[in-house]
Amino acid sequence: MKRTPMFAVCAACVLLLGAWQTAANLPYELSGSKQLTLPDVTEYRQWPYMGTSMVPNDKNNGKAIFPGIHTVYINPRALRMRREKGIFPDGTIILMENHHVTVREAESGFGYFTTGGMDLLAAVKDRRQFDGEGWGYYFFADRELKAGKKLADLQPAASCRSCHQVGAAEDQVFTQYYPSLKKEP
Ligand code: HEC
Repeated sequence: MKRTPMFAVCAACVLLLGAWQTAANLPYELSGSKQLTLPDVTEYRQWPYMGTSMVPNDKNNGKAIFPGIHTVYINPRALRMRREKGIFPDGTIILMENHHVTVREAESGFGYFTTGGMDLLAAVKDRRQFDGEGWGYYFFADRELKAGKKLADLQPAASCRSCHQVGAAEDQVFTQYYPSLKKEP
């Protein structure tokens, strides 16, 4: 009987271990049908902060696409790669909380104050999972989150990707709006 050389067995083990580690270390969980598991809020809120934008309805004739305060987080490894190598690697997840707001007068003055409503938007880069430049987009609406929804379907390209492809400065990410992405001094 022909024996498999030892080095081939070792090489296979290394490859398998590598694949297992990559899957285990991903900062997001995708099912076979590409559904995204709701990321853990307490965990991602400890990730690096990418920036905040505010897009209220009253500045957009009541028609802002995601009206509210946008707070954006990115997983630590992706930010490191972006700063060191200028790329968003496979295994990037960017999460944007959209906090619903109302206009009020407070002790600090007139302003936009959060109502407690929040949608969660996600962009995941994984070229093994998604075609084109490798980004998949997901959306958890406030009412879905409150109803306990834990899985989101991949959004069709026309809902999210098409706008990101056209307007974003870099690899479908609107880096032009995140001064904090610049290399730290
Ligand atoms: C009409 C254009 C447009 C559409 C459609 C759109 N986005 Fe965005 N998105 C933006 C812009 C502009 C920003 C950055 C500024 C801001 O916060 O509004 C952004 C920011 C994001 C971010 C933070 C990372 C980044 O690239 O800035 C995520 C995540 C995101 N969007 C996900 C989604 C998802 C999921 C959908 C679909 C449900 C979607 N977007 C649809 C324009 C769009």
